[in-house]
Amino acid sequence: MIESILITGANAGLGKETARQFALKQETKRVILFCRNRVRAAAAKKDLEEKTGKKIFEIVIGDVTDADSVRKAVGEISEPIDAVVLNAGGTIGKTAATPTPSGMNQLAATNILGNVVLVDELIKWDKLRKAVLAVSAEAVPGVKMLGVKRVSMSTSSVDEFVAVLDGSYFGKKFVALNAYSYVKYAETMWALSMARKYPQLKFVAVSPGNTKGTQAADSLPPPMRFMLNYVMMPIVFPLMGEMVHTLDVGAKRFVDAISDERYKSGVFYASKEGKLSGEMVDQSTFFPDLKDSSFQDNANAAIHRFTT
Ligand SMILES: NC(=O)c1ccc[n+]([C@@H]2O[C@H](COP(=O)([O-])OP(=O)(O)OC[C@H]3O[C@@H](n4cnc5c(N)ncnc54)[C@H](OP(=O)(O)O)[C@@H]3O)[C@@H](O)[C@H]2O)c1
Repeated sequence: MIESILITGANAGLGKETARQFALKQETKRVILFCRNRVRAAAAKKDLEEKTGKKIFEIVIGDVTDADSVRKAVGEISEPIDAVVLNAGGTIGKTAATPTPSGMNQLAATNILGNVVLVDELIKWDKLRKAVLAVSAEAVPGVKMLGVKRVSMSTSSVDEFVAVLDGSYFGKKFVALNAYSYVKYAETMWALSMARKYPQLKFVAVSPGNTKGTQAADSLPPPMRFMLNYVMMPIVFPLMGEMVHTLDVGAKRFVDAISDERYKSGVFYASKEGKLSGEMVDQSTFFPDLKDSSFQDNANAAIHRFTT
């Protein structure tokens, strides 16, 4: 039973909706909104209190691109928590390739750096009791019908993952949307590695599916944003079947994967092959690289080259 939960990037989109859904569960006693901006966090807390009629929300401030701010934030958490949802992330936009002081670029740091440091610190200080959910994406296994290619690395060595995280893997042809798939793959493989390292905790990676009603498209170039918001989401995807869903459906995937025992540790759950919505299935059934424990451990080792 999950009584307390921390969600990163909880002031908007899927993170905020996940906070709302957990708060409405009878057993939930504490929901920590981990956000980088105090004003946006306070506005989300107020709205969540109004929507749920519950005063169980706390704010912890931290920026997931800054490992020290995350360490400081964990120091402020006094009581252990049952579960965390590593949700802060996205495609970032124009600054995706910009390096951060950690050595990861902005894209990798936002999706991975602080989320991983958060889990490391919670474990180190014995503040995490049950479960971790890493938010992944359907872009990792790819979606043939949309021309989104499955992630395919040549060796999946530690050095190759390091290159994905600092951006050198992509050379001069850095396209944030393509790099995003590889970054989410690295995060997913880290979660699967951690599941073996910490068998007493549940580690799952979950794609929310193609979810409407978040801020995600805001960072896309204007023509792509227009296509997505006014053509693909409202017209094309609904005609294709199991290709898009609303915010509550996307967030419910996280709630289910954490709370329901049918979802197992060490598995990456996302839509059926070629779909972006509907039932969640184990992606390793058609993407065997996900099962390779040395690839998983290489991703974990590569990420930790940036966290000290
Ligand atoms: N929407 C989809 O269809 C979809 C599909 C696949 C995967 N995902 C994944 O789902 C997650 C949530 O996406 P979303 O669509 O809900 O996006 P969103 O509406 O843009 O929300 C992202 C959240 O992350 C926070 N965040 C960003 N950078 C941060 C930082 N440096 N430190 C702390 N918090 C930070 C944002 O806070 P601010 O408000 O301060 O920016 C916001 O609360 C992401 O990991 C995304 O990659 C989404």
